[in-house]
Amino acid sequence: MNATAGGLKKACLQLRKLRTIHHMGIRERKFIMAKKNVAIIGYGGMGGWHASYIQKSDVVQLVGIYDINPARCEAAVSHGIHAYPSLEALLADPAVDLVVIATPNNHHHPLALAALAAGKHILCEKPVAMSSAELSDMIEAANKAGRIFTVHQNRRWDEDWRTVKHMYDNNTLGKTFRIESRVHGSRGIPGDWRNQKEGSDEIK
Ligand SMILES: NC(=O)c1ccc[n+]([C@@H]2O[C@H](COP(=O)([O-])OP(=O)(O)OC[C@H]3O[C@@H](n4cnc5c(N)ncnc54)[C@H](O)[C@@H]3O)[C@@H](O)[C@H]2O)c1
Repeated sequence: MNATAGGLKKACLQLRKLRTIHHMGIRERKFIMAKKNVAIIGYGGMGGWHASYIQKSDVVQLVGIYDINPARCEAAVSHGIHAYPSLEALLADPAVDLVVIATPNNHHHPLALAALAAGKHILCEKPVAMSSAELSDMIEAANKAGRIFTVHQNRRWDEDWRTVKHMYDNNTLGKTFRIESRVHGSRGIPGDWRNQKEGSDEIK
């Protein structure tokens, strides 16, 4: 299972557990067992990556994207993906169950709060926030709204990571006092808004 499918499947299973299925009528059961509708905010590198896997998924389906950069919206449309004209339009769409936030990091907090206020479940890209205070705020808002808020910690689904975790849990190497693991960037990453202290709102 790839990371997005893994993360989203987990979120959907959590969604399904929110209500005990035998307490539901047939219409409710059909709804809860149906594919969840996902919209993506930020159709850049990761937004496009999520879109390609969501389109192959049997548990979620892509209903559209929103990006502040009109060129990215046009790119989505050219791939046959609906582009919402504004963030407000995406959040106001009752068909959207779950929102993937794939913007630069400094936008995660305000976007998550707006999406939760609109009643959406959230899968947020990592690093999830700019500070632990922002994250606490997001978790509190999700708890208040009764919505799932999860982070795309995809590396935790990787085979090498899970192997190391398994070895650690089983004490295979004896008492482990330090594990160091790095994934370096590629294709110009880190670069762009990642080099700027406050991130960037600019359209490039
Ligand atoms: N999980 C991973 O392995 C992984 C890998 C790479 C990046 N990321 C994370 O994914 C996020 C996005 O990174 P990326 O590489 O896709 O960046 P990117 O620059 O390629 O794409 C970001 C997109 O968000 C859009 N955007 C910016 N502000 C917006 C806003 N307020 N509303 C809507 N759209 C907005 C930009 O126009 C751009 O198209 C970051 O949090 C990054 O750290 C995670």
